[in-house]
Amino acid sequence: MKAKTNELEKIFKGAQDFLPLLGTDYVEFYVGNAKQAAHFYKTAFGFQSYAYKGLETGSKETVSYVLKQDKIKLVLTTPLTSKSALNDHIVKHGDAVKVIALWVEDAKKAYEETIKRGAVSFLEPTVETDNQGEVVRSGICTFGDTVHVFVERKNYKGIFLPGYVNWESDYNPEPVGLKYIDHIVGNVGWGQMNTWVKWYEDVMGFENFLSFDDTQIHTEYSALMSKVMSNGNGRIKFPINEPAEGKKRSQIEEYLDFNEGAGVQHIAVATDDIIKTVSQLKARGVEFLSNPPEDYYRAVPNRLQKHHHELQEDINALKKLGIMIDADEEGYLLQIFTKPLEDRPTLFFEIIQRMGAKGFGAGNFKALFESIEREQAKRGTL
Ligand code: FE2
Repeated sequence: MKAKTNELEKIFKGAQDFLPLLGTDYVEFYVGNAKQAAHFYKTAFGFQSYAYKGLETGSKETVSYVLKQDKIKLVLTTPLTSKSALNDHIVKHGDAVKVIALWVEDAKKAYEETIKRGAVSFLEPTVETDNQGEVVRSGICTFGDTVHVFVERKNYKGIFLPGYVNWESDYNPEPVGLKYIDHIVGNVGWGQMNTWVKWYEDVMGFENFLSFDDTQIHTEYSALMSKVMSNGNGRIKFPINEPAEGKKRSQIEEYLDFNEGAGVQHIAVATDDIIKTVSQLKARGVEFLSNPPEDYYRAVPNRLQKHHHELQEDINALKKLGIMIDADEEGYLLQIFTKPLEDRPTLFFEIIQRMGAKGFGAGNFKALFESIEREQAKRGTL
């Protein structure tokens, strides 16, 4: 693991940040049946009904459901006719992430600065208005068919975006304690990781905050490489993975085959109480990867002691749920990964609780990948 933590360099970069990002605004999925997908994310993950647009609101081409849990907003969009361009995305990738929307002060400037630095346009700056004010959005293309949309909402008082209405539902399962998006991971093709690292550096002013090579991320059978990109204020983190040569097919290759190209591999969402959150998710039918073996948990006290941290949670409760623990100099983290959420083995979620650690669970990679390989073996894709 290689961390770049030159503070002076960071301050200097921050002072000239040409793309100040306030946070993640929303994540939009293109799906085959948004009504049913919305029911799933409400029932299984505790998202709340938030906003809606569709035939009833005058939207004749697409229907969108917006779901919210604390700071996280998911938009599920489905086309209403065969003529919609959204169909191509769904045919090719299945239900998948299309938009990682970023909240900005000035969407026109964000567009101009990134286009000037080589971004390909997805959406020219567009002003949308209703009686609650105006929202400006613009967008650029990133890996695969994924896009970043910049959202400027400082002159808007409405619920979500112009065109949306409050979504009132009689069915409101309790939230499970998911707070905010910690990071979003992209899988890219062979030899493409450094191309996209450079793209995030050049076009968006991000920096490479951590790197892992295939000597660090491998099992007996498969390997991958990963670099974590972070924006100036550290609020947005995008790790980028590419496959590496191994004896068998890696999970990244399996993803690329089934997603038919690069795309979002997982969305990591943070909680303050992972034991409670994961217990509830399991009770609601969310499936997680199989638990790490017994000797994984026997090694945990040593791993924490090495960095002088004390586990505040009951290790038996973590073990029972299959939650993994990793530590670095600054603290420790707790994490667990769901199985893919669609029939294609592509997108999954990570639940993470940070207890000071800023890493991504490098110490868990081996146990995690062995668990994924057990699933791949069942699918016949290892
Ligand atoms: Fe992650």
